[in-house]
Amino acid sequence: MRKYFLIISSFILGTLGSTAQNSGIQSTVKDVETKVDSVLNLMTLEEKVGQMIQYNGSWDLTGPASEVGNKEKEDRLKKGLVGSMLNVLSVEATEKAQRMNMENSRIKIPLIFGYDVIHGYKTIFPVPLGETASWDLEAAQESARIAALESVAQGVNWTFSPMIDISRDARWGRIMEGSGEDTYLTSKIAVAKINGYQGDDLSDPKTIAATAKHFAGYGLAEGGRDYNAVNIGKYELHNVVLPPFKAAADAGVATFMNSFNTIDGIPATGSKSLQRDLLKGKWDWQGFIVSDWGSISEMIPHGFARDKIHAAEIAVIAGSDMDMEGGAYEAGLEQLVKEGKIDEGLINEAVKRILRVKFKMGLFEDPYKYMNANLENEVPYDEHRKTARDIAKKSIVLLKNENDLLPIKSSVKKIAVIGPLADDKDTPIGNWRAQGETNSAVSVLEGLKNTEFNSKITYAKGVALGQGERSFLMPLEINKTDRSGIPDAVAKAKDAELVIMVLGEDAFQSGEGRSQANIGLAGLQLELLKEVQKVNKNIVLVLMNGRPMEITWAAENIPAIVEVWQLGTESGNAIADVLLGKYNPSGKLPVSFPRAVGQEPLYYNRMNTGRPANDLHVTYSHYTDITNGPLYPFGFGLSYTTFNYGDVSLSSEELSEGGSLTLSVPVTNSGDVKGKEVVQLYLHDLVASVARPIKELKGFKMVELAPGETKTIEFIISEEMLKFYGASEKWEAEPGEFKLMVGGNSEELKTVKFNYNK
Ligand code: BGC
Repeated sequence: MRKYFLIISSFILGTLGSTAQNSGIQSTVKDVETKVDSVLNLMTLEEKVGQMIQYNGSWDLTGPASEVGNKEKEDRLKKGLVGSMLNVLSVEATEKAQRMNMENSRIKIPLIFGYDVIHGYKTIFPVPLGETASWDLEAAQESARIAALESVAQGVNWTFSPMIDISRDARWGRIMEGSGEDTYLTSKIAVAKINGYQGDDLSDPKTIAATAKHFAGYGLAEGGRDYNAVNIGKYELHNVVLPPFKAAADAGVATFMNSFNTIDGIPATGSKSLQRDLLKGKWDWQGFIVSDWGSISEMIPHGFARDKIHAAEIAVIAGSDMDMEGGAYEAGLEQLVKEGKIDEGLINEAVKRILRVKFKMGLFEDPYKYMNANLENEVPYDEHRKTARDIAKKSIVLLKNENDLLPIKSSVKKIAVIGPLADDKDTPIGNWRAQGETNSAVSVLEGLKNTEFNSKITYAKGVALGQGERSFLMPLEINKTDRSGIPDAVAKAKDAELVIMVLGEDAFQSGEGRSQANIGLAGLQLELLKEVQKVNKNIVLVLMNGRPMEITWAAENIPAIVEVWQLGTESGNAIADVLLGKYNPSGKLPVSFPRAVGQEPLYYNRMNTGRPANDLHVTYSHYTDITNGPLYPFGFGLSYTTFNYGDVSLSSEELSEGGSLTLSVPVTNSGDVKGKEVVQLYLHDLVASVARPIKELKGFKMVELAPGETKTIEFIISEEMLKFYGASEKWEAEPGEFKLMVGGNSEELKTVKFNYNK
């Protein structure tokens, strides 16, 4: 855990007097733009550059930091030469920092306070990848609204979330932080999150500003290795990576964060075409762009900038408005303007964007409006926990359920709960846990014990997963030698009718800087699973993890597998709800699960290739040692009931320009319990000016059906749905033949065709 709070307190607290003082800027002018201009006109060049600097509030770092010491930061705050701080936590601490700035500086421009509120502030929700598995946009919005309220109760008014990087590589540790491999689903989640954080009105003191990050391409790091180069072509960039960012911009996200990686050799932070030309130009987005932590200065090791001053020049020309802990703007911007190397107009443009967000947040009216010490007492934490449990159970994905092992029958009298994560109260909190307390989650064991049912539960850890100290920044040491607990686990398994094995990944196996070349069950977990399976075949594997894992042996040998991700505060209760059938699982995978790590990057919306298949010999696109395709595909998830898809019909086989078609499909609950199904719609443009993926998600609908009930689900097929970035370098629908596919996952689909004419 980062130790921000304590360190912050010692820096910020106790420095200043307590007289409240509002901004000296008079808000007499109605229009925000006029206000922004009037403030800008009052500012010196030094003050303008100051607005473009963001300091870390503590000296505990997430990466290489600027060389500025505490005293110097404090001096700069007092002179009004800081635009924002991050990681300043608590109303007391943010208020002190704000006072330091407002009561001493000449210009009196309020600070904004940023923090990584990624999946909850105190009440922790499922990690974003897990929450996306719910395919429930209302849930995604609600957890963001709650996170915003809990953040603001601690003085934080800006989150560096949502992370909307498409990731197709399970090796990448940050895959847990996004919405997976699909552009459409990620775009929908992005908008839900932004609406949840920002509400309808950014100046409402119960909302916070959101950040669309990381712009752009960060999730496609080569080899899944964090911070690595990204080499994608323009079509992939426009069709796969950028749409969620466009959706975020259109939804009015207050800020963007650029990214550490290069794209085709150009660091994203220094990319004018992405930031100034596309985002600020073509998309006409009005917010400001914050750099990633030190990413401006990182253009030096990239081999793109000679020194910090050069890095500042490149970044400001490219359109990066605020330097997060990089020290480049502070080292270089004033000098660059004075030497005539950059136009002051560029600085003005950046500052106007920052001021605009501050005005919209209402900070000029009241710089202390997000620092309401009483708000904490109004936060309904108990209600938030209930919502956390509800969202957690919706995020669970049932991968396998042979012999109807699940839900657990009341006739089962003795259950052994085994595994290193069974009694773990910390891993469910996941990485990027904000102020989620260490060891504060309900464990699986506790969740089962909290529930009234007849079975007797025994528990054995079996093996430890990690060992030694665990922290946000340090590598996790995996236990590879201590097998001493295995005999006890085997004995308990032998003595039980049913075994629940809780295996997977530690919270600190995924997240930033946590890429892995191996994505199987780390340490001695597979050995434990095999030993237990020798004495008892009735195993439910509860898989707790932040990334798709390689679980081929388990998929072949274990009858029931439940993917529970890292579900947050209420984890164990939500898992018990599903295992005992109080909630019928409805989650669907937002990422493909591979058969082997060597298949990565693996994603359903792949290209067909010129050699998709060949029955006679090896010369087609495949691996000779493994079946093509995933172990579990994108969109997959079982239920305790079954769903039957009837014939798909289309209102016409011809779609003309500006027109629309209606696709209908009857879906029946063919089992004997009530259940929810995510009906998914995919499209394939058969011949186009640029090769198109074999299928792409274009819509989904959640339907709840009683046993035997049928509902007809409709999708409107519009021209908009057919558009892509093709040879014309515009978003356009091209005439020709299209395939539509409907079903409960990306592989089991029913198909219809139509023609689009222009
Ligand atoms: C991460 C960002 C995060 C920032 C601030 C960086 O290392 O890449 O996603 O917002 O740190 O903590």
